[in-house]
Amino acid sequence: MDQGSGVLRSVTSGRPAGSAAALRSTRPHVTVRGLSKTFGTSRVYDRFDLDIPRGELISIFGPNGCGKSTLINLIAGLIPVDAGEILFDGQPLRDIKFGYVFQNYREALFPWLRSIENIEYPLKLMKLGKAERRERTERLVAHLGVKIDLKRYPYELSGGQQQLVSIMRALVVDPEILFLDEPFSALDYEMTLFMRDQLQRIFVETGTTTVLVSHDLEEAVYLADRILLLSRGPARIADFVPYEAARPRSDATLSEAEFVRVKAHCLEVFQREVRKG
Ligand SMILES: Nc1ncnc2c1ncn2[C@@H]1O[C@H](COP(=O)(O)OP(=O)(O)O)[C@@H](O)[C@H]1O
Ligand SMILES: [Mg+2]
Repeated sequence: MDQGSGVLRSVTSGRPAGSAAALRSTRPHVTVRGLSKTFGTSRVYDRFDLDIPRGELISIFGPNGCGKSTLINLIAGLIPVDAGEILFDGQPLRDIKFGYVFQNYREALFPWLRSIENIEYPLKLMKLGKAERRERTERLVAHLGVKIDLKRYPYELSGGQQQLVSIMRALVVDPEILFLDEPFSALDYEMTLFMRDQLQRIFVETGTTTVLVSHDLEEAVYLADRILLLSRGPARIADFVPYEAARPRSDATLSEAEFVRVKAHCLEVFQREVRKG
């Protein structure tokens, strides 16, 4: 373990914060080829292809029910593909650690465990000893500068604090890829704004390849290096839009010409796809 950067060292690897462009020439972190998935009679994916670049934050935006959650569940291996392949660094199968943050943090955290025990739980599954679990968790908390009393049980925390605990639980394993499925949708607007910036800070600090499903276009663009716009039935890539504003982005970003332009473009593509459905 190197100095300073703590448990997140393997994903920092010398990457200057916010320089996604510098990595674009490298091979995709995740390659999806010929992916097909059907539930009953509903064909969600039919020979779908996608490349996810390493070290970028990708937002997925698209009509309700188009297959956003399904896509990240397939990539994370939570559900099986019908056909096609998903490669990581060009390899079909490897022992990959994913971080996964679910929409409903109330169901995602164990109510009988204190917050710190919730965060440590995946390390227990990895069979790490008690001292090492605590050490890694405390290092992560310090690294992120989180100021929550983690001795509390989840029900003693606000919604935003609980979601922060689930994000830390996803990060503590030092994931290669972090998936977040509408992570802020149950929070009020003030807490959502706060959590966006927490997520951005975590991303800048770790450089972890991150896939964020969002139903909020402002949030999807604000956080993304690229916005993946999906169409419906079966899902296709309607557009994969780069957004290269420097980080950290702030409230002022929301009124910059480039932000407004990219958001308007995404909205136009989305409206077109919705009308088709
Ligand atoms: N486990 C499942 N069983 C049956 N149908 C499913 C299942 N998961 C998703 N679906 C269906 O697949 C489609 C895509 O779902 P989902 O990926 O959850 O959409 P999104 O996240 O974009 O709103 C929807 O029509 C949904 O009803
Ligand atoms: Mg969903």
